Amino acid sequence: MPFLLQFNCHDRNVDSLLFTQEQHDQAAALLASFSQRYLASLDSLPVYPPLDRPALRGLKEQPLPRAGQPLEALFEELERVVVPNSTHTAHPRFLPYVQPSPNALSPYADHVAATLNQNCNLWHLSPAANAVEQTVLRWFVELFGLPGTAGGIITSGGSMANAVALTAARDHALGPGARREGLQGQRAPLVLYTSEEVHSSIGKAVSLLGLGTQNLRYIATGDDFRIRLDLLAEAVASDRAAGRIPFCVVGSAGTVTTGAIDPLEALAHFCRAQDLWLHIDGAYGALAALSERFRGPLTGIRLADSVSLDPHKFLFCSFEAGCVLVRNRQHLLASFSAHPSYLTMSEDEDFIDFANQGPQLSRAFKALKVWWSLKHFGADAYAAVIDHMHHLATYMGEQIAARSRYELLAPVVFNCVCFRRKDLDGEGNLRALQSLLESGTAFLGPALVKGRTGLRACFMNLRTTEADVRLILDALESR
Ligand SMILES: Cc1ncc(COP(=O)(O)O)c(C=O)c1O
Repeated sequence: MPFLLQFNCHDRNVDSLLFTQEQHDQAAALLASFSQRYLASLDSLPVYPPLDRPALRGLKEQPLPRAGQPLEALFEELERVVVPNSTHTAHPRFLPYVQPSPNALSPYADHVAATLNQNCNLWHLSPAANAVEQTVLRWFVELFGLPGTAGGIITSGGSMANAVALTAARDHALGPGARREGLQGQRAPLVLYTSEEVHSSIGKAVSLLGLGTQNLRYIATGDDFRIRLDLLAEAVASDRAAGRIPFCVVGSAGTVTTGAIDPLEALAHFCRAQDLWLHIDGAYGALAALSERFRGPLTGIRLADSVSLDPHKFLFCSFEAGCVLVRNRQHLLASFSAHPSYLTMSEDEDFIDFANQGPQLSRAFKALKVWWSLKHFGADAYAAVIDHMHHLATYMGEQIAARSRYELLAPVVFNCVCFRRKDLDGEGNLRALQSLLESGTAFLGPALVKGRTGLRACFMNLRTTEADVRLILDALESR
């Protein structure tokens, strides 16, 4: 066996990728020191750094190192080049997107998950992680009041959750031949409906699934930014009359720009009557159901065929952690199960082979940070934090109403505020936004609200205070 003879299998070569106890201690000390200093310095950092382009070019052009470097050198470079050229997303005035600062525990959970390195694909490769994932999924199923048939999977985020849900919806519409024939077996186009305020991940999922974006109908919203049911009904009827096949409606539990929640119950009744799959994109807002204040408008989720939610948003988990739930778990199995001979092991009714419920095979133990976050902080703490984020948005809305140079572009209904400087046109507002960013004071986002351009602040940051809100508005007035 010449090949094997050539291969110099020297046991101790592997030691170079392992740490001694002393190196572990050193790595832990460097990590703890870095994390504590970084988090303590956030207030004094510019939210968006002036970029050191030569240093970043140096990073891009690094050659493949043949020999390793000591740990101290890696941490030194991290602090010298990476940190000063990073957006400080946990900075109290980082408010541009639906992107929270992580809760304090989540990075530790990421470390533990990576240390255990469970592969959450087949249950026998990760039995305890499997039980944990089942538990967090059950907590979510119970939170939304979905039936006992429901199941789901932790995903990388809301975009993937939406893609998984729409795959199940598409395959359900295609029927038993779905996986064998795919869309090629379909004579008339399948059509789906959503509002003009929907997140771009729905359009991406539609193209990914081969449905064709020309078959995605964006229905207009009313003054409240919620989908207009009369127009939805008209669109469905007109497609049916033209011989197309309506199959799915996507409602939003928190639209990405204004945070509006579509009339979910009414959508559900419409979908039942029309035999359409109702998917709710709750990546932004579904977890606000943890708060009494928002539970009411979200109760319609219990009637959905599928719902996406994002623990890396309102559970303040570090990236990545999304989730999709389907009313009937069988739909995920129908779309994703696969049993190659090299993977098949005995099934066990206590466990779930998550590889059969989603597109990924190897999967990290993301459920750990979700589980730990809820266990350590408790659901009541989340309810209070979500209410506080709403309070900050309301406070900003009041400040805007009290200042003559500003106006709101949409009512504040959730945790985000869309507004503009009245004395500037759309371009001027965007320039003010850019100038605020370049000064390092605050990072807000742009907003296009019913054709009007302005700025958007989304409160998901655990360090933001009312003083930050006033500081932002003061700073913007002078731009
Ligand atoms: C309403 C909505 N849907 C989907 C997404 C996509 O989620 P992710 O960024 O986790 O993929 C977002 C992200 O902000 C969102 O706000």
